[in-house]
Amino acid sequence: MDEQCLTLAAAVIEKADREHRADEVLRLELKKHRDWLPDIPRSVSRAVFAFYRWRGWLDSPAPLEQQVRQALEWQERFRRQPNSISEAELRSQALPGWLAGQMPEMPPAWLRDLQTEPRLWLRARPGQAERLRQQLGDMAPGFVGLLSDALSYEGSQDLFRTPEFHAGEFEVQDLSSQAVGCLCAPLPGDTWWDACAGEGGKMLHLADLMQNRGLIWASDRAEWRLARLKRRAARARLFNYRMRIWDGGSRLPTRSLFDGVLVDAPCSGIGAWQRNPHARWTTTPQDVEELSRTQQRLLAAVAPAVKPGGKLVYSVCTLTQAETVGVATALERERPEFEPWPVPSPLDPGEPARAQHWFWPQDHGGNGMFVAVWRRKG
Ligand SMILES: C[S@@+](CC[C@H](N)C(=O)[O-])C[C@H]1O[C@@H](n2cnc3c(N)ncnc32)[C@H](O)[C@@H]1O
Repeated sequence: MDEQCLTLAAAVIEKADREHRADEVLRLELKKHRDWLPDIPRSVSRAVFAFYRWRGWLDSPAPLEQQVRQALEWQERFRRQPNSISEAELRSQALPGWLAGQMPEMPPAWLRDLQTEPRLWLRARPGQAERLRQQLGDMAPGFVGLLSDALSYEGSQDLFRTPEFHAGEFEVQDLSSQAVGCLCAPLPGDTWWDACAGEGGKMLHLADLMQNRGLIWASDRAEWRLARLKRRAARARLFNYRMRIWDGGSRLPTRSLFDGVLVDAPCSGIGAWQRNPHARWTTTPQDVEELSRTQQRLLAAVAPAVKPGGKLVYSVCTLTQAETVGVATALERERPEFEPWPVPSPLDPGEPARAQHWFWPQDHGGNGMFVAVWRRKG
């Protein structure tokens, strides 16, 4: 790696902290150098993320540039000889010590995936995946389960600068997140509420599944995220939605009752630690406890808005007990009007016997996630 990239990577690491996420600092730094060829931003990103992935192995008093170089060497060594590092070492050096108390079982495959570079997933517009595969090139072969619009990109173009992106022909969306939209399975003409719509990743998928018909209420407490959602929806020419600011309080954005409500809740994000390794060192067990309470509060607030016979879907990109099974079990205990709605996994459609209402869709190369699906009785 050349000195220019090393220096910039070290500058990003120096500035990043709990309030300034490394990926955000990196984005801002790279924005200052828009004229660079895509190879340089890619090398700097690789170096920054390798640093956080291998931080537990680095010689911390050494200058940052030297540590970044060491991290890249560890990354390469692990790529060539994944078994040269034991599971016990991964558990103790790649992750903060408090996690074991929150996640008693750490699947060995997940531990190893954490130390590799993540795949880049795209969601093509309905029925357009094959055409997009040919236009963009460099896609991994095959489709995953029922997610026939999902493509895994392995090339080196900056996809955000392609004409296909500007024409709204695809979204960058993680595979497990795409599974959430499929589990919602809204029908054209339905009325849905995406209560934590954020920048609209899942809302746009729901709108596509509804063929731009029916209505989606998209709410979030962050106005700036909804502004991005609006830009993305315009690019995709999706119009069957209304936006509202909502902070999770008991005053709901509308009195409507919905065929389905999705709560893609704020969470500790541990399922995205492969993609965002900086968060391993800034997240705390207090965050987990606080977020689990927020998730329960959000579910309790939206529950009355689900029509009898309607669906309630809860998803989080994390794997702690308190946020996933803990929240789902509390809802089932406290809200007997909701019953489990078992469906086959969109990622393993050949296994109808394994229909379930709790899902961990991460075994196919996407983020770690938990999804639960219930139906309101009546
Ligand atoms: C996991 S993100 C949503 C991602 C989005 N659904 C997507 O697919 O792109 C969680 C969202 O919850 C929002 N949020 C956090 N606390 C909230 C609250 N109390 N009420 C409503 N939204 C909240 C955050 O602003 C964030 O956009």
